[in-house]
Amino acid sequence: MKLILLGPPGAGKGTQAKRLQQQYGIIQISTGDMLRAEVAAGTPIGNEAKAIMEAGQLVSDDILVRMLGVRLDQPDAANGFILDGFPRTVPQAEALDRMLANKGLQLDGVIELKVDNATLTERIAGRFSCAKCGAGYHDSFKPTAKSGVCDVCGSTEFVHRADDKRETVAARLEAYHQQTAPIIPHYASTGALRSVDGMADIASVAAQIDALLAQAG
Ligand code: AP5
Ligand code: MG
Ligand code: ZN
Repeated sequence: MKLILLGPPGAGKGTQAKRLQQQYGIIQISTGDMLRAEVAAGTPIGNEAKAIMEAGQLVSDDILVRMLGVRLDQPDAANGFILDGFPRTVPQAEALDRMLANKGLQLDGVIELKVDNATLTERIAGRFSCAKCGAGYHDSFKPTAKSGVCDVCGSTEFVHRADDKRETVAARLEAYHQQTAPIIPHYASTGALRSVDGMADIASVAAQIDALLAQAG
């Protein structure tokens, strides 16, 4: 299965992609996570991306298209993948079309999570993740079962993303509406686009996605 999960910052792409990865045995490819790993490792790409990400802007198409191309060539992508955070501009969507065509692959679906700006801001403000295993949580919507302890690995250290500050979130939402939303008509015209009510709770969003995937066969 080859899917794109599309939606604004805080829509729940990562939350749903991690679940789909486990449930369907296909890998999550999060370009945001890949960039954060480059920043943490201090690579040339990371050094270039750091300030751009902290300003809530998009990293260049050139870097992202190359990064995704390398990732899709890795053997674990052969079984299928969920793209989380890519494509994010019209040139990235066009580059992805070319990459897939070259490999003789077709997307099974593009799932758009629709969520309003006020809810996105609330979700991002309450988000934190495990410093050790990366499991994602939310103060109100997805707390750890035992306060201060990761459900998955038992770690007691948690982190907040550098771009989750309120000012930066506004810039990220702006970038989404200006630069990413224009790719939606691209996928509507190919017939691949399916929209989901991303305002619902995590389990209901998951159920809506599963119903769409069951239809897609
Ligand atoms: P990226 O890491 O992709 O961030 P994003 O798109 O801003 O999205 P988020 O990760 O913030 O949100 P999400 O949709 O994954 O939501 P989550 O599941 O965590 O990109 C970061 C930066 O990298 C970009 O700004 C850019 O600079 C750069 N970048 C990345 N890709 C790029 C590209 N292709 N081109 C150029 N630049 C690129 O959920 C949020 C919170 O809400 C969590 O706490 C969760 O527990 C909770 N939650 C989730 N679903 C629900 C629900 N249904 N109800 C209640 N709470 C929920
Ligand atoms: Mg994410
Ligand atoms: Zn953990």
